[in-house]
Amino acid sequence: MSFRRVHVHCLLALCALVSGMAFAQAPADPAAPAADPATAPADAAVAAAAPAPVPLDPADALLVGDAAAGETKSAVCAACHGMDGNSTDPQYPKLAGQNEAYTARQLSLFKHMHRQNPIMLGFASTLSAQDMHDLGAFYATKSPSPGVADDALLARGQALYRGGDAGLGVPACMACHGPAGGGMAGAGYPHLGGQWTDYVSAKLTEWKNGTTWGSDLKAKIMPDIAGRLSEADIAAVASYVEGLHAAQSGTRTAAP
Ligand code: HEC
Ligand code: HEC
Repeated sequence: MSFRRVHVHCLLALCALVSGMAFAQAPADPAAPAADPATAPADAAVAAAAPAPVPLDPADALLVGDAAAGETKSAVCAACHGMDGNSTDPQYPKLAGQNEAYTARQLSLFKHMHRQNPIMLGFASTLSAQDMHDLGAFYATKSPSPGVADDALLARGQALYRGGDAGLGVPACMACHGPAGGGMAGAGYPHLGGQWTDYVSAKLTEWKNGTTWGSDLKAKIMPDIAGRLSEADIAAVASYVEGLHAAQSGTRTAAP
């Protein structure tokens, strides 16, 4: 655990630079003798020792959370996310009504440094995979507080959410996040209904600007979609999302 925390302070950009240099140098002098195979593994070992996100363990996704145990563990989270997962400050996402699989995955992404956030790294790094599922199970039993959508942005936001934009190559958000923003618990697609506009637009903007939450298939979906949206589209769809009410929210759903 402390091993991983130390790595946080490492400069990922520097490591990328170093490995980039290794690549750049390789073809530079074709006449030079091939690298000594005896030293090559040593170089690779140095590169591997560089700080990098740790792969998620697929077995973690199969754990099943205990909501009662999660409630106890959530005490430390309440200051920012609210006692019942309904934060009152829009910079902190609402967790209430979120499905267990998604919450557990995000905590794991924070801990293993695929999703970069210094605050959440601190909280997630002390959690076991079982803790993550317990917390996810607890928040899944809670109902998200309703939000409001801006009338002026409603038409464009609704069009994008429900139908996408074929011209831009943007699929309907509803296809994965559900007609009422309830998400898809079995697939771990997040519940969005009622989520703060500011938080949603911040995430979409980060993805548009090149942020990723790792390189697995799930993490590739949103950067691709957000990259096709204009700032005005992001504002509209984020506002629409906050206004969505999920009829089935608060349903306790175990991981697939
Ligand atoms: C000091 C404030 C603070 C505390 C305490 C805190 N968080 Fe967070 N949490 C944040 C912030 C800020 C974000 C948004 C990170 C981002 O923008 O990517 C976040 C994001 C999250 C997310 C991602 C939500 C989503 O919709 O993707 C989860 C899950 C989460 N926190 C769970 C927890 C849990 C569980 C605890 C307690 C063990 C906790 N947090 C404690 C500030 C906090
Ligand atoms: C093909 C399925 C798919 C479509 C279509 C899709 N999403 Fe997503 N979305 C995902 C997945 C999967 C994640 C979680 C990514 C991860 O865990 O790495 C996600 C995450 C999100 C999040 C982060 C939620 C949180 O709590 O932090 C937001 C916001 C979001 N999507 C908005 C949208 C919007 C707006 C659209 C339409 C313009 C859209 N999505 C279309 C699959 C999809």
